[in-house]
Amino acid sequence: MKASHLGYSAVSALLLGGSSVNAIQVDFTSTQSIIQACSEITYGMMKYYTGNNTGDTPGNLPSPYYWWEAGGMFGSLIDYWYYTGDESYIPVTTQGLLSQVGPDNDYMPPNQTKTEGNDDQAFWGFAVMSAAEYKFPDPPAGQPQWLALAQAVFNTQAGRWDPQTCGGGLRWQIFTFNNGFNYKNSISNGCFFQLAARLAAYTGNQTYAQWAEKTWDWVNGVGLITPQYVVWDGTDDTQNCTSFNHIQWTYNAAVYLLGAAVMWNITSDQVWKDRTNGIINGLDVFFTTTPANVMYEVACEPQGTCDVDQQSFKAYVSRWMAATIKVAPWTESMLQPKLQASSEAAAQQCSGPNNACGLQWTKGSTYDGLTGVGQQMAAMEVIGARLIDRVGGPVTNKTGGTSVGDPSAGSGQNNNPSNPLATKPVTTGEKAGAGFLTALILIGILGGAWWMVA
Ligand SMILES: *[C@@H]1O[C@H](CO)[C@@H](O)[C@H](O)[C@H]1NC(C)=O
Ligand SMILES: *[C@@H]1O[C@H](CO)[C@@H](O)[C@H](O)[C@H]1NC(C)=O
Ligand SMILES: *[C@@H]1O[C@H](CO)[C@@H](O)[C@H](O)[C@H]1NC(C)=O
Ligand SMILES: *[C@@H]1O[C@H](CO)[C@@H](O)[C@H](O)[C@H]1NC(C)=O
Ligand SMILES: *[C@@H]1O[C@H](CO)[C@@H](O)[C@H](O)[C@H]1NC(C)=O
Ligand SMILES: *[C@@H]1O[C@H](CO)[C@@H](O)[C@H](O)[C@H]1NC(C)=O
Repeated sequence: MKASHLGYSAVSALLLGGSSVNAIQVDFTSTQSIIQACSEITYGMMKYYTGNNTGDTPGNLPSPYYWWEAGGMFGSLIDYWYYTGDESYIPVTTQGLLSQVGPDNDYMPPNQTKTEGNDDQAFWGFAVMSAAEYKFPDPPAGQPQWLALAQAVFNTQAGRWDPQTCGGGLRWQIFTFNNGFNYKNSISNGCFFQLAARLAAYTGNQTYAQWAEKTWDWVNGVGLITPQYVVWDGTDDTQNCTSFNHIQWTYNAAVYLLGAAVMWNITSDQVWKDRTNGIINGLDVFFTTTPANVMYEVACEPQGTCDVDQQSFKAYVSRWMAATIKVAPWTESMLQPKLQASSEAAAQQCSGPNNACGLQWTKGSTYDGLTGVGQQMAAMEVIGARLIDRVGGPVTNKTGGTSVGDPSAGSGQNNNPSNPLATKPVTTGEKAGAGFLTALILIGILGGAWWMVA
């Protein structure tokens, strides 16, 4: 992910104000109509995917999409199949997910080291974890299997836990030569937390649950999640994590939601119930009051500055809210009004050419002109979430899961500190880059808007 927490690389908004075209038609009382809408939106999303073309790289999206977003997209294709039962994209999804595993079967392809942070790797890990949980067709024998791939992502990240500064936590970046190596952030730690919780649920292995606990405790102890369940973006380890970038992104909060709900599911512990409820209350900042309950990216949507990464965040929030209902059923009454209002608003915003979906669900059917993979993904996820009550919950090893695991997967060379990639000295240019990043974070802190103030 490219400095996605900064929010400065604004995408120029093509303001097609007033151009209210026909929005996608959805009858939300009809399962068939919801499925049809998801199908149309997913078709629109796949128009961006070139990995299928002769000579192109399977599993990747073309520029300006970073590698991680393809992982997010394949996760959405699994959700699409899960919600609708439409098998059309199974082959392209399987091919894409298996093409990017890299030589060590851990989603560390050497040709992505310049863009890959812990969070990026984790979005591929989430896709294969969902594949195991929803019984997406297993790859042929001899190919890497969904569960083992998720375990490999977990194991590589557990090996990166870093107690040298701030008492622990994961850094944003994996490699010292990438900007943001000094940044310990909520999304990287939140992804690791959620993946650990889901692996604990699927396998029953308590080691994963212990890692989830430990990560939660660190994130809260250091103050990335406040006692009021505000989730800040990240903190600088050169200051031992005592100052924060106070920007709030939807997916930073929501990644903890599903993790906490899964921890409640496997422990029945009131502590996790309280945390889940707390996070749900904390999500309120991302939903408008007029119109009520419509999801928006508060840090960039109103200003029109959401970058390509940020344009996809609402997809993961919708996905994790729906999945939370499955593992923590008591959350349904709190989450459904938000999913319902947001899905209806999103459908109206699918009012561009060929029903392309815009970014801002708060704009009704007035198309905002901001289309892309993230917008299609987000609209599909939130509309598909309306089918959550008609699909089964995630399976586990004991309740019908068939994905074959490997608890020691991911012990490859990429995670070994003796790997020259991980210890490559930082050049002057890269240092300047890192300093620039720190400066931007500082500007972010000083130039905070009302919602950034603690
Ligand atoms: C990918 O290619 C296959 C044929 O090789 C085609 O049937 C399929 O529709 C393509 N899928 C997408 C998503 O472009
Ligand atoms: C990069 O690595 C992946 C995974 O190892 C591989 O499939 C792909 O062909 C490589 N090249 C490019 C240009 O992505
Ligand atoms: C750094 O932060 C950690 C966690 O908050 C704390 O335990 C440790 O004592 C701090 N170290 C220094 C040198 O302040
Ligand atoms: C449980 O997970 C840990 C951490 O990955 C692993 O070392 C251990 O072998 C696993 N135990 C079993 C019984 O699979
Ligand atoms: C835990 O999640 C599973 C999968 O959705 C569900 O069947 C089960 O009822 C949940 N447990 C509780 C106590 O709600
Ligand atoms: C489920 O777990 C058991 C015990 O760890 C193991 O023997 C079995 O192979 C697992 N099933 C699958 C499908 O991996």
